[in-house]
Amino acid sequence: MAADEAFSIVIFGASGDLTHRKLIPALWTLFAARTLPEPFTILCTARTPMSDDEFRAKLKDGVKQFARFKVPNDQVWQRFAANVFYVPGDPTAPEFYGTLRARLEELERARGAARNRMFYLSTPPSLYADIVTNLGKAGLAEEDGGGWTRIIIEKPFGHDVTSAQELNRLVIRVFREEQVYRIDHYLGKETVQNVLALRFANGIFEPLWNRNHVAEVQCTVAEAVGVEGRGGYYEESGALRDMIQNHLLQIACLIAMEPPVTFDANAVRDEKSKVMQAMRPIEPGTVDDFALRAQYAAGFANNKQVPGYLQEKGVKPQSTTETYAALRLLIDNWRWAGVPFYLQTGKRLGRRVSEIVIRFHRTPHMIFRRGSVSVDPNLLVIRIQPDEGISLIVEAKEPGPDLKISPVTLDFKYHEVFGGEPPEAYERLLLDAIHGDATLYARGDWIEQAWSLTQPILDHWARTPGPLPQYEAGSWGPAEADAFIARNGGHWRRP
Ligand code: BG6
Repeated sequence: MAADEAFSIVIFGASGDLTHRKLIPALWTLFAARTLPEPFTILCTARTPMSDDEFRAKLKDGVKQFARFKVPNDQVWQRFAANVFYVPGDPTAPEFYGTLRARLEELERARGAARNRMFYLSTPPSLYADIVTNLGKAGLAEEDGGGWTRIIIEKPFGHDVTSAQELNRLVIRVFREEQVYRIDHYLGKETVQNVLALRFANGIFEPLWNRNHVAEVQCTVAEAVGVEGRGGYYEESGALRDMIQNHLLQIACLIAMEPPVTFDANAVRDEKSKVMQAMRPIEPGTVDDFALRAQYAAGFANNKQVPGYLQEKGVKPQSTTETYAALRLLIDNWRWAGVPFYLQTGKRLGRRVSEIVIRFHRTPHMIFRRGSVSVDPNLLVIRIQPDEGISLIVEAKEPGPDLKISPVTLDFKYHEVFGGEPPEAYERLLLDAIHGDATLYARGDWIEQAWSLTQPILDHWARTPGPLPQYEAGSWGPAEADAFIARNGGHWRRP
């Protein structure tokens, strides 16, 4: 690697779960696969006092458990760990940034390469404003010495439209927009990126990709897990904030966007913003027509009895936080006018599965009068995870003297074609940020648009008392979800 690719990453919130399960395992895997630019420095910080060696030992456990690449031997691990350092401190205290800066400069001098710096905010969001302000005051946002400085900000970016605008304003006072990388880890998933390849590297879909041929789009992100000890966080969040305002809306934009002129950050992000501009705002009086919420009750997951949401640790007994949400969105532009986009997500659903379903119109006229009378419309199913792949469901004649038509699946499975596990989203996103490519990151204006779209729903739900519709843990959501989609003649495709 060229020495001018040398970089340092400073991780705030280093004792947290994200660092342990995702960030360090991703950096390690990039290193083990020889794709991480070298030399590099990983400087981690949190409040807990710890030595470099104590911290490295903790990281090794995380890597063993969560990294895609296993640790082959101690020597390789030692080569990686020798670049990882820890500095304890209070991120809200301006004085700490002097210590941080001194340590960073000392490590950079020892490395003797360009001063390229990335700050990663992986703390609770309540600390973002302090960290950004303090970085600015300490002169750490500047790009001097010929190197670059970037900041990666974890989700959630804001709690509502006002706080997201405030955070954007603050960040942009300290950093230039080009320095800011706002994470949505769904954009780093191989299969989500493949939506763009499917649409824009193939000629056959574009003529079909509009209201003339598409009847409906469904995006589902179902999780089998419950709130997993994050009851406190989830109480403040709920499914709409946690999954729809970011991940599901990003997916919907990739499906709905116009072809960008080039595959550059701003060209792609401009098109996604235009989709958001075209989304029909949800009027306060009509929220129930466009959105549904529910909560999981006790049930079974993996054949084990599991508690309902209201019995989870950290959850208020009368909580009205939704663990399931479904939305019907309309995009008022020439391509999509009249085509409903359904988004749904939930915890404690039947199993972990995320997929996008494009349902095409039925044939205009059925010539096959004998045998089966009703023929299903064609579906294109993009499976995001697990069992990553793409299926096209078409009708075919069953062998035999009778004219019996039934659906068959043309299937592409990632693991059969490419083998192995797809790279983790964080591997791709970290590498892109190191290389200065923000295409797979959310832009500030998009985030504000996504909050504006969801805000009337959040407000309406906050005003409407519970109890919420319930669904049994391990089921596919509340009975109300079927009625919700049936109002417009649809039905959920059960994965
Ligand atoms: C996160 C949410 O953004 O995404 C979690 O905060 C959720 O609640 C997670 O479990 C799902 O991500 P993945 O990659 O496991 O589908």
